[in-house]
Amino acid sequence: MSVKEQIEALRSELEQHNYNYYVLSAPTISDQEFDKKMKELQDLEAAHPEYYDPDSPTQRVGSDLSKEFEQVQHRYPMLSLGNTYSEEDVRDFYERTARSLNEPFEIVAELKYDGTSISLWYEKGRLVRAVTRGDGTKGDDVTANVKTIRSVPLRLRGNDYPEEVEIRGEVLLPWAEFDRLNKEREEQEEPLFANPRNAASGTLKQQNPAIVAARKLDAYLYYVLGEHLPADTHYGNLEAARRWGLKIPDVMKICHNLQDIFDYIHYWDTERKNLPVATDGIVLKVNSLRQQKNLGFTAKSPRWAIAYKFQAERAETRLNSVSFQVGRTGAITPVANLEPVLLAGTIVKRASLHNADIIEGLDLHIGDQVYVEKGGEIIPKIVGVNTEARTMMIGDKVRFITRCPECGTPLVRPEGEAAHYCPNDSGCPPQIKGRIEHFVTRRAMNINMGPETVEDLYEAGWVKNVADLYDLKITDLMSLERWAEKSARNLLNSLRESKSVPFERVLYALGIRYVGETVAKRLAMSFHSIDELMHASFEQLVAVDEIGDRIAQSVVTYFADERNRQIVERLRAQGLQMAVSEAVLANRSDRLKGLTFVISGTFSQHSRDEYKTMIEQHGGKNTGSVSGKTSYILAGENMGPAKLEKAAKLGVRIIHEDEFLKMIEE
Ligand code: IVH
Repeated sequence: MSVKEQIEALRSELEQHNYNYYVLSAPTISDQEFDKKMKELQDLEAAHPEYYDPDSPTQRVGSDLSKEFEQVQHRYPMLSLGNTYSEEDVRDFYERTARSLNEPFEIVAELKYDGTSISLWYEKGRLVRAVTRGDGTKGDDVTANVKTIRSVPLRLRGNDYPEEVEIRGEVLLPWAEFDRLNKEREEQEEPLFANPRNAASGTLKQQNPAIVAARKLDAYLYYVLGEHLPADTHYGNLEAARRWGLKIPDVMKICHNLQDIFDYIHYWDTERKNLPVATDGIVLKVNSLRQQKNLGFTAKSPRWAIAYKFQAERAETRLNSVSFQVGRTGAITPVANLEPVLLAGTIVKRASLHNADIIEGLDLHIGDQVYVEKGGEIIPKIVGVNTEARTMMIGDKVRFITRCPECGTPLVRPEGEAAHYCPNDSGCPPQIKGRIEHFVTRRAMNINMGPETVEDLYEAGWVKNVADLYDLKITDLMSLERWAEKSARNLLNSLRESKSVPFERVLYALGIRYVGETVAKRLAMSFHSIDELMHASFEQLVAVDEIGDRIAQSVVTYFADERNRQIVERLRAQGLQMAVSEAVLANRSDRLKGLTFVISGTFSQHSRDEYKTMIEQHGGKNTGSVSGKTSYILAGENMGPAKLEKAAKLGVRIIHEDEFLKMIEE
């Protein structure tokens, strides 16, 4: 086989595996084998740039090139759908359609996916452009980002596709991925995404395709457009598109009468809760393209289709007050304090107000009757005000504060951000206390003290930064109210023990913005010591895998501040670990390179965290849930039955402690 043939064979083989995994959810090879073949292809392509192909599966990982999005005109305008909220409205739509057509017709019922819409253009079977809805006439060219979505084929399968065809659908962030992303953002004190829809559209507008690739978006398609379509029905065209390799949901259904439609609505109103992605209603479309054409469009939406929105769970209650909280990074969070009300099975007392723009948009007044919803959101939110319930007694308009409620410093709102911050990081009490609280947590320095102790020590004037902790004297502590000798000694012991906490946790404990546990480990393993890290340039930082501009900038800014460097020096003088230990460095290997592990159950020889560290030390990866990409499950006692079942189904190998320890032995 010539090199060219070899490259082509690998490309089509890898695309087939992508399709099996991401579209059919039925992988046939292990993650490891996949990665091996991918590496093989990457090497061949690197050695033979003359065979470059933008559609190669290697191009899906996303390059680091950033660019502003180009605006492109839609060939067919992207309209929206008329919304209905009651079965009565659905009946009206059905009867109106029957009257206009005056002949038999079918309705295709589909789920309404709650993501962000996308238009995919294929020419001669190749994905040439992916465009957002934009204003409906023109949208943003997000092709580079969409190419990272593994379920979107870069080449169509088979040979019966039209020369030019447009496929529309929804880009979605699956629930599991949404939860994972928010957990990560919480850890890094970044604002959380309110729901998967915002997360999906935010991700699609990212300037860096590598970030998009890491977020694991999915795309469900539901509309085929073009001049030479294979079928004369909507359903038939979707089936054809499925053959071409696109992810067409298989829950669509042809309805012959109103009862069929209602059955579909009722079934999915509850069943949708088991889907991996968010849905907010159903969509009804006339099946025949000829009939669609006869029915035509209004200015905004087609007459041949309608959306029925599921009822979000909603309650009405009184807005008692709004408070503004200051976080460890100085970010201000406005919170609505509500008259307690029952919503979707829980009592709600507080709701997030997100930011100043949202408050302004709602035109809130204290004492307003507000509507609270718990849609796809985790935290309930205020979606509107019952203005009819306003009386003469209504309170003041709610305005975002201009000064920090804790220290009085004027707030700043960085360009392009929705959040306000208190910039007084060295003098604002909740920021100072927050940093100390973070420093002592179990996963950081594991110092045995709670928030009340931090408060006491701060109020007494002894601890104003994390380095002060190590200067505490037993006599200081014993002079505090409620402190006996025993608790004072315990704290000093715990502080002493913290001096052997490994460097990566010290780094995490410092509370550098965006440096969560994972990032701290990554930085520690790449730079080995605080001195190397402190002197690393922005360029050296971004050269590290998974370290982007934002993190790099934050690290540089942190160490540029004289006060931070002083704290680091004091901690060093106290004997804290400021470098990766020789033992760890000596023990590093590539033995688990390319392997992905899931740890489950309880162990006898080492703790879960120790196993996690070992896996990383030997070049392997840890993930939370079993998938086709999992190489091994490291199982202890009491492994969950769901994981076991999934592992069996996917054929993932289960290994126990001894076997694992052998794997990493020399
Ligand atoms: S069809 C001309 N089908 O809902 C009709 N749209 O308000 C084009 N959506 O912008 C849309 N699931 O983003 C259609 N099964 C589905 C859908 C769906 C979600 C979204 C889409 C569209 C919006 C309409």
